[in-house]
Amino acid sequence: MQKQIACTGIKPTGIPHLGNYLGAIKPALELTKNFEARYFIADYHALNSNKDPISLKQNTYEVAATWLACGLDPERSLVYRQSQVPETFDLAIMLMAFTSKGLMNRAHAYKAMVQANIENDRDADDGVNMGLFTYPVLMAADILLFDTDVVPVGFDQAQHLEMTADIAQSFNRNYGKELIKVPKPYFSETTRTVIGLDGRKMSKSYNNTIPMFLEPKKLRKTIMKIVTNSQTVQEPKDPEQCNIFAIYKLFATNDQIESLRTRYISGGMGWGDAKQELFELINTTLTPFREKYKNLMENKSQIDDILDHGSAKARILAGKKINFLKKNIGVL
Ligand code: TRP
Repeated sequence: MQKQIACTGIKPTGIPHLGNYLGAIKPALELTKNFEARYFIADYHALNSNKDPISLKQNTYEVAATWLACGLDPERSLVYRQSQVPETFDLAIMLMAFTSKGLMNRAHAYKAMVQANIENDRDADDGVNMGLFTYPVLMAADILLFDTDVVPVGFDQAQHLEMTADIAQSFNRNYGKELIKVPKPYFSETTRTVIGLDGRKMSKSYNNTIPMFLEPKKLRKTIMKIVTNSQTVQEPKDPEQCNIFAIYKLFATNDQIESLRTRYISGGMGWGDAKQELFELINTTLTPFREKYKNLMENKSQIDDILDHGSAKARILAGKKINFLKKNIGVL
C-alpha cells in the first residue's frame, strides 16, 4: 500500500528552542517513519517579516541544520526550500481565485496586526503587506501541491489548516470532483505542555526559552535560571508543582522520573541539585545533535546540496500536479 503523505513547512526564524524541538521537530520526525514526508523551509513566508538578506539566509541554514541534526534524513524524506519549488506559486495563484477576501480578513495574524494598529491610532493596514494578508493561501499551496494527507503542526496553526481545507473544498466543489486532496492537521500532544524557565509556555516572545545548541556551560547557566519556590533543602517537595520536574519529565525515562520523584517527596534535595540533574539529562540528550549541527553549519555547502537536491525532486512531483490541475481548470 502506498504510504500516506505528511507535509510541513518550517519558517526560518532562528535557532529553535527545546519547546520547538519537543512540540514540533520531534513529533514531525517521528511521523517520517510511517509517512512519506515532505518537509520544507518556508523562506517566502519568512520574507513577509524579514527583509534582511543576510539574516534570512543565515536563518535558513540554521533551521535546515537543526532538522537535519535532529535526524531528518534527506534520503528518506523530501527536504527542500519553498522558494526553489516555483510550482508552489503557480498553485497559489490558482487558489487565489477560490479564496474569498473575507476568509483572509478573519486570519488571526492579520487581525492581530490590524487590532494593534487601531489601538495605537495608526491606519488599520499600517505595515500590513499582501504577503501577510495572503499568508494562508501560500500555506495552502505548499500543502495542497503534494496531495498531503496530514500536516504536523502546532495548535497555533489550527486556523491556517482550516483555511487550507476550506480553500481545497471550494476548489473541488467548483469542478464537481476531488481534484485536490483535503488534508488533516496532526497536532502532537506535547505541543501544549512544554513550559519555559518561568513556568509559562516556552516561547521566544516570553524570553523564557532554552535554546537547542547552547554550549554546556551556557546551557547549565540557563537551566539554573528556572524559577522555583523558596523551599529549603530539607523540605519535601511536590514534583507536580515544579518547573524543573515538568521539563525533566519530557526527556527522562520512566525509571529516571520515578527516581527523581522519590527524591522530591522524601526531602533533602535542593533546587540546585534538581537543576544539575536536569542539566545533565538535557546535555546528554543534546550533545550528539549539537555536534552534528556544528558540523553542518561549518559546511554550509552540504546544506545547500541537500536542499538543492530535494528541491529538484520536489519539482518533479509538483510539476505533475500542476499540469493535472491546469488541464482540469481549462488553461492547458
Ligand atoms: N505557518 C507555519 C508557521 O508559522 C509555517 C508554514 C508555512 C507551514 N507553510 C506551511 C506549516 C505548510 C505547515 C504546512 O509555523
